[in-house]
Amino acid sequence: MSNVHVIDHPLVQHKLTLMRRKDASTNSFRRLLNELSLLMTYEVTRDMPMQDIEIETPLETMTAKVIDGKKLVFVSILRAGNGILEGMLSVVPGARVGHIGLYRDPKTLTAVEYYFKMPSDMPERDVVVVDPMLATGNSAIAAIDRLKETRPKSIKFVCLLTCPEGVAALQRAHPDVPIYTAAIDRELNSHGYILPGLGDAGDRIFGTQ
Ligand code: URA
Repeated sequence: MSNVHVIDHPLVQHKLTLMRRKDASTNSFRRLLNELSLLMTYEVTRDMPMQDIEIETPLETMTAKVIDGKKLVFVSILRAGNGILEGMLSVVPGARVGHIGLYRDPKTLTAVEYYFKMPSDMPERDVVVVDPMLATGNSAIAAIDRLKETRPKSIKFVCLLTCPEGVAALQRAHPDVPIYTAAIDRELNSHGYILPGLGDAGDRIFGTQ
């Protein structure tokens, strides 16, 4: 599984376990997702290009490094992707945000696009696509197919949870796109849910169960 980064930091794993529990409230699920997204952003931005700027400390002038946050676009696959945005933006507040609306056809489990809004200068930007669950891979593949039409500099995919089927499908379609996840679970069931998983991420974030 080259190009797959499992973020096994104890804080990430601990929070993920709390989120999986079926008795986690909407409030705590959302708060944990927020904290987890923030922690995962450290790993995802590890190789981000930096620039030198001149600053003044109370004692002298120095050249110091900063991330060029304006070059990043976080792209949320609606609606569950929005649950990841807040945590990411809290550490990279200068990033732009794009949205892709895809719904999963319940019979075929394929992705159908209903919304697409990106910044205008995509060829100058690095994209981080976010969706908590990489399950069949259909939404992620469709989103990345569409994003590649805008010719961004690079694309990464970030999820909370995935499964071997989802990883294989996304890597087959987009081998150039690294996957960042907190866990690779056992399997996908016949309804497209990850097992043991955490249920429907969108419903758990927004309390719509
Ligand atoms: N989407 C979810 O929200 N949960 C799954 O287990 C699979 C897809």
